[in-house]
Amino acid sequence: LTASPVSVIGHIATNVAVITTGNDRDSHGVTANVWAEGAAGNLALVTLRREGGTLGQVVRNRTFAASVLGVQQERIAVQFATRGSSEKRFAGVDYDVIGGCPVLTPCHAWLRCTVVDVCPFGAYDIVTGTIDECGVGDLVAPLLFHGGRFGVFGSGGGHDG
Ligand SMILES: Cc1cc2nc3c(=O)[nH]c(=O)nc-3n(C[C@H](O)[C@H](O)[C@H](O)COP(=O)(O)O)c2cc1C
Repeated sequence: LTASPVSVIGHIATNVAVITTGNDRDSHGVTANVWAEGAAGNLALVTLRREGGTLGQVVRNRTFAASVLGVQQERIAVQFATRGSSEKRFAGVDYDVIGGCPVLTPCHAWLRCTVVDVCPFGAYDIVTGTIDECGVGDLVAPLLFHGGRFGVFGSGGGHDG
């Protein structure tokens, strides 16, 4: 009845988002999870690898966006999870710059935050922000991640209902 933490972590299904900061000339982004709460402060948090390239840019700009991906966007999830230049990550990806952050178009939903706190979390830093702007995108079904694979919520197959 016991298992390794790595195995258990792989059983936790998550959303898939692209966390971004910057503008047309200096954009940064990485595939990551996003968590948010609207009960007492409209806060969002992301965990960004301390050794990675995106964390420092988010902290420097004091703002980040999370574009939550839809089922049609697995390619984008892989592109932003692949080590390499910003040019390669953003190649062929459409976005609008909102409040100093690229927001992917289309997407499932998005948030744009001002950084309020950064604290250590193992190999990551937890970056907390207040939600300044947010919206729901055109892609109705969310992309999920579980057991090292991308998937769909329920039997939706990319469609609601
Ligand atoms: C579904 C999925 C979720 C991920 N979640 C995170 C995350 O929450 N934080 C993170 O730093 N990396 C996460 N990654 C890994 C990064 O996308 C990947 O390591 C990337 O190359 C790091 O780039 P960086 O150098 O900009 O940090 C995730 C990857 C995938 C496919």
